[in-house]
Amino acid sequence: MKDAALFDTIAAAICAHPRFSESRGYIQHGKVSVYEHSLEVARLSFSMGELFKIADMKSLVRAALLHDFFCYDWHRPEKMWSLHGWTHPVVAAENGRTEFNISDKEASLIRTHMWPYTLLHPPKYREGWIICLADKVCSLSETVCRWRKPKLCIPVKE
Ligand SMILES: [Fe+2]
Ligand SMILES: [Fe+2]
Repeated sequence: MKDAALFDTIAAAICAHPRFSESRGYIQHGKVSVYEHSLEVARLSFSMGELFKIADMKSLVRAALLHDFFCYDWHRPEKMWSLHGWTHPVVAAENGRTEFNISDKEASLIRTHMWPYTLLHPPKYREGWIICLADKVCSLSETVCRWRKPKLCIPVKE
């Protein structure tokens, strides 16, 4: 990441929000919380955005941070056997609209991050492909290396 100050400027308000902080209490994969996973996906997305010269870094970072903003423990039995894999992008986008007034573009980036799992909803923007790929990389790393805590996950300056 070249411009860490820009990343922190965009991410700080979301990371400091109490509803977003709740995700520290929910496990995503292995020992990694949803909060840590979301921050790691956002950092990797930002680095990829720098590489591919994405102009709209604000939408990229906000949507990456909120891509799993579903606000429940998906390991609970009733959630594990639900359609969580398909439905949580919609829930996350709705929560993003409620709590952070996200744009239609940001909602689309969140809505499409599970592709190809959500086969009929591929990313519509370059930022969407980046978040989709960053999420796969981070999820695979967290699932395979279940003993590690994310290296990239240092707290955002507030
Ligand atoms: Fe997700
Ligand atoms: Fe994710």
